[in-house]
Amino acid sequence: MKLTLKPIAHAELPKKLLDEASRDPWVKSHLGEHKMPAPRMLILRGKTSVGFFTPKAYEGGLVLRPAFIYVLQKERRKGIAKEAVEQYLGKRGGLAYVNPKNETSTALFTSLGFNPVPDDEGRATPRWTREASK
Ligand SMILES: CC(C)(COP(=O)(O)OP(=O)(O)OC[C@H]1O[C@@H](n2cnc3c(N)ncnc32)[C@H](O)[C@@H]1OP(=O)(O)O)[C@@H](O)C(=O)NCCC(=O)NCCS
Repeated sequence: MKLTLKPIAHAELPKKLLDEASRDPWVKSHLGEHKMPAPRMLILRGKTSVGFFTPKAYEGGLVLRPAFIYVLQKERRKGIAKEAVEQYLGKRGGLAYVNPKNETSTALFTSLGFNPVPDDEGRATPRWTREASK
């Protein structure tokens, strides 16, 4: 599958995508522009918008976090999130906050080779990381 990642402003998110994500229990509280004025990364298959996340960079860009990733329900289980995150990270390190109650998030980051940070086990939303590749 050939996906394209396109950085956009929050206000440019396609309405259908934002409406659906705004009903999702895991991402809805992170989508208000007032709460999260960050830019978004749109995930496109051809010209069709199929998902998005909030790109965040740490350690001067050496570690990247694809926060609050969302894929349209009818497009799930096709490898879109996995391919989008792989493309976004490239060879750089990855960081994610994974709620252990969120099965899809746990499956996604496990499949991407992320591991829980040991000292975070007691936190509601532990950090998971993936090392940069050489
Ligand atoms: C999490 C989410 C982005 C995954 O998107 P997706 O495009 O369906 O994921 P993929 O198809 O790339 O799957 C990635 C891996 O997770 C697994 N997976 C995805 N959904 C799963 C599910 N419901 N149950 C079990 N495994 C699942 C896939 O099998 C795949 O693993 P594999 O490579 O070992 O086969 C999507 O389910 C979603 O938008 N969820 C709601 C929002 C959310 O919870 N976001 C996460 C953190 S805020």
